[in-house]
Amino acid sequence: MVSASDPLDLFGIDYVELYVSNARQAAHFYRTTLGLAPVAYAGLETGLRDRTSYVLQRRNVRFVLTAPLTPGHPIGAHIARHGDGVHDIALRVRDAAAAHQAALRNGATSVQAPTIYEDAHGRVVKASIATYGETIHSFIEREGYEGPFMPGFRPITTPPPVPETGIAAIDHIVGNVELGAMEQWVSYYRDVLGFGQLVHFDDQDISTEYSALMSKVMQNGSGKIKFPINEPASGRKKSQIEEYLEYYGGPGVQHIALATGNICATVDALRGAGIPFISVPPSYYDDLEHRVGAIDESRQALQERSILVDRDDEGYLLQIFSQPMQDRPTLFIEIIQRKGSRGFGKGNFRALFEAIEREQALRGNL
Ligand code: FE2
Repeated sequence: MVSASDPLDLFGIDYVELYVSNARQAAHFYRTTLGLAPVAYAGLETGLRDRTSYVLQRRNVRFVLTAPLTPGHPIGAHIARHGDGVHDIALRVRDAAAAHQAALRNGATSVQAPTIYEDAHGRVVKASIATYGETIHSFIEREGYEGPFMPGFRPITTPPPVPETGIAAIDHIVGNVELGAMEQWVSYYRDVLGFGQLVHFDDQDISTEYSALMSKVMQNGSGKIKFPINEPASGRKKSQIEEYLEYYGGPGVQHIALATGNICATVDALRGAGIPFISVPPSYYDDLEHRVGAIDESRQALQERSILVDRDDEGYLLQIFSQPMQDRPTLFIEIIQRKGSRGFGKGNFRALFEAIEREQALRGNL
């Protein structure tokens, strides 16, 4: 199924950088809702003149929130085109220069040549390549670096309170690309980054009256990095992928799936912090036991929280999807708890899409 060899020696996702219009407020939002702790800062006070970044981290999840400080800044232009969204899915590597060179040899476009950043805590090497839309992948080499994030950042030593949400890792990050472009990006992840294809959904699996998509899941050799790629398929009305592409102004990151060991507790914490989730029709739960068999959680506990369940031959998974995290109907968050299953909730796509379409109709976009 997966034939990835990991030629670039990818360890995992080092961080996800979002370009946002107001990093201070976004940092407050992601701290108080997802429970990510502010650990590092760069901006005017650290000698950075044109932009500011907050680094938020909890266990193996690290977000960098970056905003421009000056008029006419390229980051501002990115935000004008896309709204707040993911700019960089940075990958931890053993050797950033070697990974960058191998990626270019295999057809990638360079965004940043290997650059060494050094301070008293050691050194970090960063190099970047382009992926779908204006999204990039940076290769981060930080062996032995002991600072809070990267040279140029200072630690946030007295962080404000951070709620415990149970979020522990990034499970997968999904990209939406244009109609007809999925294969091109599947090839990119295979040829440039050495990923293998894990699963494939077509519009037979994932279609409703109005919405359809095709999706292929690409995974690196160690299985630590999973990037599903979606493209719209033709439906009777505008699909959720088309809505995304319209509002994002092209391809980009659709959702970040965050793993938890206790989805009910995590959902309660996030709901309590004001994160709205996609609601699920009561009928979804009517034949749950019949569909997924015996599970540890009570149907009532799942139904109260609109948590979805899917089973495959390895086990089951529990998942839930947030509403968009910003004004534009673009980036959202998934919370996922895996109990054996390594899938992506194929059995939930129809129920989920019908629920998403109800929200889309409320926005007048269906
Ligand atoms: Fe997902």
